[in-house]
Amino acid sequence: MMTVVPANPEMIEAAARHLALGRLVAFPTETVYGLGADATSGRAVAGIFEAKGRSRFNPLIVHVADVEEARGLALFTPLALRLAKAFWPGPLTLVVQRRVDDPLADLVTAGLGTVALRVPAHPVARALLAASGLPLAAPSANRSGHVSPTRAEHVAADLGSRVALILDGGPAALGLESTILDATGVRPVLLRSGAVTTESIEAMLGAGLARAAAMAGAPRSPGQLASHYAPRARLRLEAREVRPGEALLAFGTPVPPAAEPAINLSARGDLVEAAANLFAALRALDQPGVETIAVMPIPGTGLGEAINDRLRRGAAREDHL
Ligand code: TXA
Ligand code: MG
Repeated sequence: MMTVVPANPEMIEAAARHLALGRLVAFPTETVYGLGADATSGRAVAGIFEAKGRSRFNPLIVHVADVEEARGLALFTPLALRLAKAFWPGPLTLVVQRRVDDPLADLVTAGLGTVALRVPAHPVARALLAASGLPLAAPSANRSGHVSPTRAEHVAADLGSRVALILDGGPAALGLESTILDATGVRPVLLRSGAVTTESIEAMLGAGLARAAAMAGAPRSPGQLASHYAPRARLRLEAREVRPGEALLAFGTPVPPAAEPAINLSARGDLVEAAANLFAALRALDQPGVETIAVMPIPGTGLGEAINDRLRRGAAREDHL
């Protein structure tokens, strides 16, 4: 039996039945592919950690159908509600206070009193949420330490035998994970930059956004661990030339002369196009024999903030020596 199937209504129904039985289903979202499980079943959620090969229990994002379902699971401050209404469905994740009587498995929040919720915009994700009627825990559908999958074949390569089904919805439109905001307090705090730009959130709020990274103390989101998004090869950032033996991840033009392999994230210097291509390009360049990938400078504005965040994390890994 093929694990990768087209995301048609029949297969979405089949996927919903697998989820109801506690099995794992990979599905497309507008950001990256998710590895989904029933968020109310501790066993099903444990299966996610097992399949990803995660050694620690990180809290996972719970995907829901709409704001009403979200409010049934968690407490929304007026600010959280404003953010939800402005950006859902879409690639914004809100960390909010769990309800004491919510049906969520404690493992999905790693025992925290808060939960990360998002309403995805992708029609297949929405159809799966509707068909299953369940809140779905879904981290990115990659093995732990690998870059996030933006195509069904990435998921198959990483997790093929470990999931009941992979719904193929084509390449992810955005290619970067959702932006995560802690919305439990009076002012929201950016926990992870992502597909919704900081600028667009600030424009909606009419105020600047606090960043957790700039605050003292331990990171609130394990996704902030320096080496969370790492290809096997070393990344050399802000590269203006390509050294012998290096692969090249280019952006814009002109491009320094390079031996193969080389990929341009966006020859016309478009950050949206670059975001959509980023993880697939890292996977393609991260080949045996390539020790270092030279990465050209990428502007830090708009989606460039999240792109540079992922690249810095990729460059920070220490276990590739
Ligand atoms: O775009 C996305 O967000 C994708 C797609 C599949 O929706 N999902 C995704 O999930 O990236 P995941 O599990 O890989 O990322 C979850 C992030 C982690 O950094 C985790 O630490 C943070 O969300 N998180 C989850 N619950 C949290 C909580 N209660 N407090 C703080 N951070 C939390
Ligand atoms: Mg991930």
